[in-house]
Amino acid sequence: MRTSSKFLTIFSAFLCVLTIEAIVVKQESSLYGPYEAGTGHLAYWGLSGSAHLAETAIRLTPDEAAKQGSIWNNYAILSNDWEFHVQFHIHGKGVHLNGNGLAFWYARDPLTPGPVFGSRDYFSGLGIFIDTVENAAAPHNHRHPYLSAVVNNGSFPYHHDEQGTAGQIGGCHLQARNLEWPSKIAISYISDVLTVFLDTQGTETWTQCFRAVGVHLPTGYFLGVSANTGEYSDNHDIVAITTLDNIIPDKIWEDRSYLVPYAEYLEIPFVSAHYQRHAVVEEVVEHKVEEILAEKQDVIPEVKVEVPPPPPPQPEVKVEPKPEVKVEPKPKIKVEPKPEVKAEPPLPPPKKKVQPQPKVKVEKQQEVKAEPEPEAKASFLRKVIYIGGIAVILYVAVFMFRKYNAQRKERMQKRLY
Ligand SMILES: *[C@@H]1O[C@H](CO)[C@@H](O)[C@H](O)[C@H]1NC(C)=O
Repeated sequence: MRTSSKFLTIFSAFLCVLTIEAIVVKQESSLYGPYEAGTGHLAYWGLSGSAHLAETAIRLTPDEAAKQGSIWNNYAILSNDWEFHVQFHIHGKGVHLNGNGLAFWYARDPLTPGPVFGSRDYFSGLGIFIDTVENAAAPHNHRHPYLSAVVNNGSFPYHHDEQGTAGQIGGCHLQARNLEWPSKIAISYISDVLTVFLDTQGTETWTQCFRAVGVHLPTGYFLGVSANTGEYSDNHDIVAITTLDNIIPDKIWEDRSYLVPYAEYLEIPFVSAHYQRHAVVEEVVEHKVEEILAEKQDVIPEVKVEVPPPPPPQPEVKVEPKPEVKVEPKPKIKVEPKPEVKAEPPLPPPKKKVQPQPKVKVEKQQEVKAEPEPEAKASFLRKVIYIGGIAVILYVAVFMFRKYNAQRKERMQKRLY
């Protein structure tokens, strides 16, 4: 274990050297304990609301109802590629009744208290929320605590419902409450790709929560963490913060200070009458395509798996009258079309292709077994008529073509001479 982890460390360091010229820890945007408990002042950082220093952590909210607190870095981020690592600890007396959660920010307006986990609504920038409230009244499609990331340009309110958070570009469930060790989040923003990693096991292993491409954030915004409690509460503690500047070689620097925050791909549309309609239609179409694909994929293997048990006896019985007992693979071949026949109703396209095969086979068998059946005779007659008709049409076509060719040659010869 030791050697492999050493090897991994060396290897990853080597990779970093190859791909990123320099990872610089920004001291003025990083924070480590121990802290001077009781004081409310930190160099480079601003505190708001109930946030205060404890010895081992900055407590954004105590385990009391209706508190909100935040910590924001005083320095705007000027690099286009950065990482924000936060070690946090959410813990409280409540077993199921707790709240509300934490938010990690890269936003335009620092230290502005508000309803979104202790910070302002209609924010501009990136918000990554850990919603810890188990709301029994409104069943959710996802488990809580739930992490969701939203890029907002200031025009949409925060809204979380059973679907998730409006405007979400990515999210995941995480176990991050009442653990014995602090959890870690790493928010990596490199080349317009936002990736969030979590380490909640205390084993120094990162798992990816989500990765979102096409995320456009300006420079000059501020990093912060905020938290609030409602009717129910938790201690929301920040243990340490590390901010990294990634300097990527050969990357042409661009001025992004005037960029409006924008995410190309939303997992969940924003809650706005105008915008929602647009986005929902797209989602529905996507989902339908996915559903159809999923159904097709599901149905085909399921049918193949389900059907084999019943049909074997049928072909065996039918094979018996035939003298071809030696050929073993034939019954296997005959088994296949039969499940396909059963699968026809849910799959419209294959119908046309599949139908003729079994019909022909069935008819042939019937012919062999019982020739005098009127239905078989009629269908045989019909077939003869069809084939005859096609032959006549082909013959006429060939005849006409030859005639036309001959005429053309005649004309050509006339012209030449
Ligand atoms: C903010 O985002 C919405 C939705 O993406 C968009 O309609 C609006 O134009 C954006 N505002 C600005 C100033 O870019």
